[in-house]
Amino acid sequence: GELRQWAGPTQEVLSPIQLRQPDGSLLPIVIGSYPLLDEAESLRALEAAVRAYDHGRGEWPTRSVGERIAAVEHFTRLIVARKKEIVQLLLWEIGKSAADSEKEFDRTIDYIRNTIDALKEMDRDSSRFIIEEGIIGQIRRSPLGVVLCMGPFNYPLNETFCMLIPALIMGNAVLFKPPKHGTLLHYPLLQAFTEAFPKGVVNTVYGRGNTIVPALMASGKINVLGLIGSSRVADSLKKLHPKSNRLRAILGLDAKNVAIVLPDADLEVAVKESLLGALSFNGQRCTALKLFFVHEAIAEEFVQQLGAEINQLRPGMPWDEQVNITPLPEPQKPGYLAECLADAQAQGARIVNEGGGTAAGPLVYPALVYPVRAGMKLWREEQFGPVVPVASFAHVDEAIQYIIDSDHGQQVSIFGRDSCEVAHLVDQLVNQVSRVNINAQCQRGPDTFPFTGRKDSAEGTLSVHDALRSFSIRTVVATKQ
Ligand code: G3H
Repeated sequence: GELRQWAGPTQEVLSPIQLRQPDGSLLPIVIGSYPLLDEAESLRALEAAVRAYDHGRGEWPTRSVGERIAAVEHFTRLIVARKKEIVQLLLWEIGKSAADSEKEFDRTIDYIRNTIDALKEMDRDSSRFIIEEGIIGQIRRSPLGVVLCMGPFNYPLNETFCMLIPALIMGNAVLFKPPKHGTLLHYPLLQAFTEAFPKGVVNTVYGRGNTIVPALMASGKINVLGLIGSSRVADSLKKLHPKSNRLRAILGLDAKNVAIVLPDADLEVAVKESLLGALSFNGQRCTALKLFFVHEAIAEEFVQQLGAEINQLRPGMPWDEQVNITPLPEPQKPGYLAECLADAQAQGARIVNEGGGTAAGPLVYPALVYPVRAGMKLWREEQFGPVVPVASFAHVDEAIQYIIDSDHGQQVSIFGRDSCEVAHLVDQLVNQVSRVNINAQCQRGPDTFPFTGRKDSAEGTLSVHDALRSFSIRTVVATKQ
């Protein structure tokens, strides 16, 4: 809630963009460093949030909706003024292309503005009265307390703000830990937070998740955990809270989204959407298509066409407008992807496209792998990178059974022309996943659509409207007539 100097240890940040030396080797570039808070300092930040919320009696939770909106609007103006810096940091920290980094920034600002509009609408509704059985009821939306927000590295600004802004605007106090890759870009926001919000309402805690977050959870003072990240981390953090019934969790987690390509699919559409779905931002999206089931009659043709499209992709540096494949920020990822490819090849699959899977440091050329079968790592594991596994099926029930057996349940894409068959499939799949896309890739947007998942893929719902509900509770003021 206030800017504090940190004299303790810090962590250097290496960019995924590396410098090629004359001898061909790659030199990592240090682009900054961030404080590694210890447990005690992060607990002090928690106390600041607890004090600011003050059991719902603090200045922020008791402000009117209009006043909270005004503060968020002020904050928005301050960050818009720092757009250039934030976009550059996105590019250097996570290797996102210049165009996509700018899109992430703009989408975040749109999200904030749409949230404000949605709250105004919600507030109008709550000023209506219901009269039933001689009781006049006014239904309000109240905050929940202290929210801990943690966003992912692939959308370090946007997906953090998709939780942080609704949590704030509903009157909660927030603690927020930036992701390991995507930390520096939050620096320009520190000043804006302190200028726009009362002391203690927003607290940024920098450090290693496994050092500081367990203590925050174990304190029992976190009322809401907002996390977009891995199912494993979410599970372990939830267990640390001493009173799990007092913790609300809003989680966006692992996903292994499947595309089903039916024999009558328009291949041009299927290939175009599959390329985007599997390889936008190098496949590092929870919504990415991570396994394709293609009918055996068209499987060879599909992989040939998709392989030809992948061959057109250009790897390189994120500032180059012609480039679509950029360096991966997770240092262990190229090695992991190589293991997946070796495992698939050892079990009889081939890499269809030329040069697929070759890597120069963090820059990995996408690989299209076919035929992928049960037992391969790529069959069940979420690769979260530029590898496109394709399996063939004789009957569509094989794909449906895969989805039923999966631990994940986020989205699915169906490609086909026969509307009766597609409708029949949709009816089966809406009970398995939280979004079915027809002749289109999987994706989160538009941001007004509910964003959630079944099984291990999510808890609670995010989206402009849903997040306002997720970070608040309905309360009733009832007066007897
Ligand atoms: O990584 C998960 C994101 O929610 C994906 O969002 O579909 O807009 O790329 P997107």
